This record gives sequence, C-alpha cells and structure tokens, in this order.
Amino acid sequence: MKLVVAEDYEDLSRRAVAWLRDALAGIDIPNVVLPTGNTPLGLYHNLAAEPNGQFLTNARFIQLDEYQGIPREDSRTLAGWFWRTLLDQLSIPKTALLSFDPSAPDPDAEAARMEVVATKAGIDACVLGLGVNGHLGFNEPGSDFASRSRVVELAQDSLKSNAAYWGDETSVPRRAFTLGLRTLATSSHTLLLVSGAQKAEILATTLTGPQTPQVPATCLKSFRDVTVIADRSAISQKMHTVRTMITPKTPEILH
Ligand code: PGA
Repeated sequence: MKLVVAEDYEDLSRRAVAWLRDALAGIDIPNVVLPTGNTPLGLYHNLAAEPNGQFLTNARFIQLDEYQGIPREDSRTLAGWFWRTLLDQLSIPKTALLSFDPSAPDPDAEAARMEVVATKAGIDACVLGLGVNGHLGFNEPGSDFASRSRVVELAQDSLKSNAAYWGDETSVPRRAFTLGLRTLATSSHTLLLVSGAQKAEILATTLTGPQTPQVPATCLKSFRDVTVIADRSAISQKMHTVRTMITPKTPEILH
C-alpha cells in the first residue's frame, strides 16, 4: 500500500484524477468501480471540468453499492446520484452504469447477478471512500474478507452518516446491495480517498491496525496495487507517530 498525503481536498481531488488516468492508460474499454458519497465529488468535478475527463468516455461503470427496497425512480438511489454527479457531467449515457436494481423482487438473486457482472467484466480500477466505521461500499463491520456481492443491513454508523445525504435517519433505507470485499479485491488497481478530520481515527486504524473484519478497510492490505490519498486533515497525530515506524511492508508516505 502506498499513502499519498495531499495538502487539502483540492489537491486530493487533483491527484485522484491523475491516479485514475494512469490506472486506465492504454485500456480501450475500461471497467471501473467508483463510489458515491461526498469524498469523490471533487474528483468528479475535476473530471467534468478537464478535457482529461474524456478518458472515461468509453468506460463501463460497475456500481459499488445501492440501497435496497426502493423504486428505481426514487430520488435517493445511488445510481441517480452517480448519474447526476458524474455521468451526466461527462455526457456519458446512463446505460454505461451496470447497476443493482433497488426494487428487484428477489434481492439475493439480484446481488448474485451483479456478482457475475463484476467478475465476468473484470475490474480495471476501483476508487473507494472510507466510512467512519471502516466500511468499504456497504461492507459494514463484521464483513468477511471473502464476501461476495450481497444484500446487507446498514450499520448504525452508516444510517447516521447517510442521514446527512437525505435529511434525517428515517429517510435512509435500512438495507443495501454491495459488491463484496472479495469482489473488490479482484480489481487491478484500487484507490482509497480519505478527507477530513472525522476520518483521521479510522484511517489510522485502517493503515496501522491488524487486519480484522471489524474494520473492513483493513482488507485493503491484501489487495493488489493499493494507493491511499488522504488530505492532511485526515492524518491524525497517531499517524504522525507511526510515520517514524514505516517499513517497506507498511504504507509509504509521499508528498
Ligand atoms: P463520504 O462517505 O464520502 O460521504 O464520507 C464515504 C463512505 O461512507 O463510504
């Protein structure tokens, strides 16, 4: 794993564009997993603003996660969020997103269908946000590192953080689809984006703590080619201490 410390959120978002461009260089029709949430909005803004964003024009996007049990037309779908914040901005058709159907009558079968979609396509690059509870996608604490795409109950922390997107906790669906941790591990390149002091503690735990399903993000240590881009506010005092202990097996700090 490689840790890149960005000066601030702008810098993080700029570096994320460069990372994605490099990860997909030379691939004609790349398969990409990108997150929703607040953290990647700067990346999406930059992709839309720069001619460089066009390198995604031919991409196929495999949805990372989606609420379960709401209509496709519901304004809270994460597919809708993704269309609005990225695809529409790049004039990429909505059909480029291979997505979970939030209203599928058999949710387990729907999760299994998306697992096949993801594994058959193969993931060239995956960008992830970090939950305050250490989740990746909706792989909540307790998720097996060998987990595949499935339906999950949202953890209390996720209900709380998602309430910020939709006004209050009662507006947050209780269940969701997510690509599994093992599914995500198949990606050739993975980028974890972490911004803000509220993520400092969980980032330190992710990078320096033992691998445990209680902190799903610690599974990243076993993934191929992982880069973490965190802004300075997400680097805790604890991490500064850890920097003196860095070895080739642990994250490398770059500026
Ligand atoms: P955020 O969400 O980018 O809105 O902080 C990240 C996550 O919960 O995965």
